[in-house]
Amino acid sequence: MVTREQVLEGLAKVVFSGATENIVEAGLVRNIQIFGEEVEVDVDSPQPTLHVKKKLEVDILKALHEHIHPKLKVKVRTHVVEQPEKPKANEIKGNRIPGVENIIAIASGKGGVGKSTLTANLAVTLAEMGFKVGLVDADIYGPSMPIMFDVPNVKPVAVEVNGKSMMQPVESYGVKLLSIGFFAGTDQAVVWRGPMASKALNQLIWDAHWGELDFLLIDLPPGTGDIHLSVVQAVPLTGAVVVSTPQTIALADARKGVGMFRVPNINVPVLGIVENMAYFTPEELPENKYYIFGREGARNLAQTLEVPFLGEIPLIQSIREAGDVGRPAVLQGNTLAAEAFREVCRNMVEQCVARNENLPPTEAVRITTMAGCSAVKAK
Ligand SMILES: Nc1ncnc2c1ncn2[C@@H]1O[C@H](COP(=O)(O)OP(=O)(O)O)[C@@H](O)[C@H]1O
Ligand SMILES: [Mg+2]
Repeated sequence: MVTREQVLEGLAKVVFSGATENIVEAGLVRNIQIFGEEVEVDVDSPQPTLHVKKKLEVDILKALHEHIHPKLKVKVRTHVVEQPEKPKANEIKGNRIPGVENIIAIASGKGGVGKSTLTANLAVTLAEMGFKVGLVDADIYGPSMPIMFDVPNVKPVAVEVNGKSMMQPVESYGVKLLSIGFFAGTDQAVVWRGPMASKALNQLIWDAHWGELDFLLIDLPPGTGDIHLSVVQAVPLTGAVVVSTPQTIALADARKGVGMFRVPNINVPVLGIVENMAYFTPEELPENKYYIFGREGARNLAQTLEVPFLGEIPLIQSIREAGDVGRPAVLQGNTLAAEAFREVCRNMVEQCVARNENLPPTEAVRITTMAGCSAVKAK
């Protein structure tokens, strides 16, 4: 049984950024409710910005997990205390998608490392955490989201917004989804030339009625080619997440992936590296770990490149099965797989919040020729 004292002790470890006293001392905790193993906390946020609010929520979640129990169910409601309007110093200068707070690209150098699997599970986890989430399946050459979200034969409808006809994203598991797979058979998309693919992708991003979103995730195709350039040209990315397996050949490509975002005129902050298929484990014997692709390669790469390491996802049969039946693994409750994705997601949100606090917004890159590609090299 969780007690109120335990919750207060946990909350006393949370300090609002810039404050000298913790949130309990500062009188920001309004209400605590405990239902068995579930805790609901109401706190006041002195700042109205979404990322400050979210950081507070993430900090509280972490503090209570650390202090009480890592699997404790916590619901945080932040209430903004009215403060006079201040002009925003950090206005994004590039072409912002109206209403979309954070745009995160998920990349990998190599194909088949689990980029789409991770993206789908991150999107569902963010939605479970209470964020408004959109997902663009930008893998023009191998769209996989319609299957992973169990909407293989759905066609997005057109809606009229301010006199303009726009695509309405398809909703599944609380995530708004658009994929080129909804419009063209995979066989068709595969033969598209670069410019056609880029045009289609731009339409998916810009001609869609996303509404208000906290996060828009973009599942990029593997590699460092013109689609990638097209994405960084089209939208000011908040950051990128790079996925790799621990295998040497995948790591070499992941390094190129990180290098691409770090090219001076692209300059997208890399929020972190995720190690997928870190080891194989049979779900019924989770203490047995087999490092079939090598050990801790992506973790070490993150250290070498001085990029945050967001966590590892084991190779588990049910993750693959979940993808195939269109019900992402995180929806299976408190399994080993689900917890691994949640951990990565929490770390990603934390890095995103830190990024927004410390760096100015990314400007959409304007590159008019593909010559920029030659500059895309590993660090
Ligand atoms: N951690 C994992 N455990 C088991 N299977 C996985 C895992 N990650 C990915 N897969 C499977 O590996 C295959 C490739 O993953 P996918 O996400 O499509 O990769 P990518 O998008 O990088 O090409 C898929 O069949 C997927 O279900
Ligand atoms: Mg994919």
